[in-house]
Amino acid sequence: MSTIEIIPVAGRIGAEIRGVRLAADLPAESVAQVRAALLKHKVVFFRGQQHLDDLQQEQLTPLFGGKPVAHPTSLPKAGSDSKVILELNSQHGGRADSWHTDVTFVDAYPRASILRGVKIPAAGGDTVWANTAAAYDNLPVHLRELADKLWAVHSNEYDYAIRKGNPTLDELKHYAQFSSTVYETEHPVVHVHPETGERSLILGHFVKNFVGYSKAESAQLYSLFQSYITKLENTVRWRWTEGDVVVWDNRATQHYAINDYGDQHRVVRRVTVDGEVPVGVDG
Ligand code: SIN
Repeated sequence: MSTIEIIPVAGRIGAEIRGVRLAADLPAESVAQVRAALLKHKVVFFRGQQHLDDLQQEQLTPLFGGKPVAHPTSLPKAGSDSKVILELNSQHGGRADSWHTDVTFVDAYPRASILRGVKIPAAGGDTVWANTAAAYDNLPVHLRELADKLWAVHSNEYDYAIRKGNPTLDELKHYAQFSSTVYETEHPVVHVHPETGERSLILGHFVKNFVGYSKAESAQLYSLFQSYITKLENTVRWRWTEGDVVVWDNRATQHYAINDYGDQHRVVRRVTVDGEVPVGVDG
């Protein structure tokens, strides 16, 4: 008999899963429970997964419905057994401190991300996730109708320097590698989730503009839609401890790593699970 416990962390998004030791050979019944929890809660948290190394983290991807996929431009961690693992290391410009959905600048962006806490500051460095399906549901009807028709251009050459204010040398190096090859694609602003059928908003910091709108108009529209996504009621905040693993449905969430830990060292490692080209409300 399974002893899995699923404990919601916030009202609209996020659940902690207890009683699971993550491994590629997790029993099918547990996999089904974990996947159902991920679809329902959008982000799931597992404490105490210190037994995992990089390769074992990569080997978790089939549990979440797909294959591991390397980042299109950022190199995997040097010397790791995993050829896809991405390290976000605060000492080398790895601070994901603006709202985004992972890798939306490619056509078939990841369906899920698996993030492991490796080195966590004594205080600070929490991550916040937002439920983009709840945000869609909260839109006033006329905004929802507008969103249903809109498309957005996503690019990895986003306006990094302006958004960051005063980037450090390490951050600039990190960004130079990140945008070494420019990717650009268009996605519907509203997509229909292939597994739940829910509608949610695909936006985040890779959005360059909305199709048919100027840069200035796009910026205003973007901040209006983002204000619904990042409404506190649609979010959950996680206080990391080392060995935590967090998995999110990248088709129904955005996230933001809070940059409040100064010079303290923070390291997290991410594996992404391959996804599909998103389908809008008109099919
Ligand atoms: C990410 O954006 O994938 C990393 C989030 C984090 O550093 O907490």
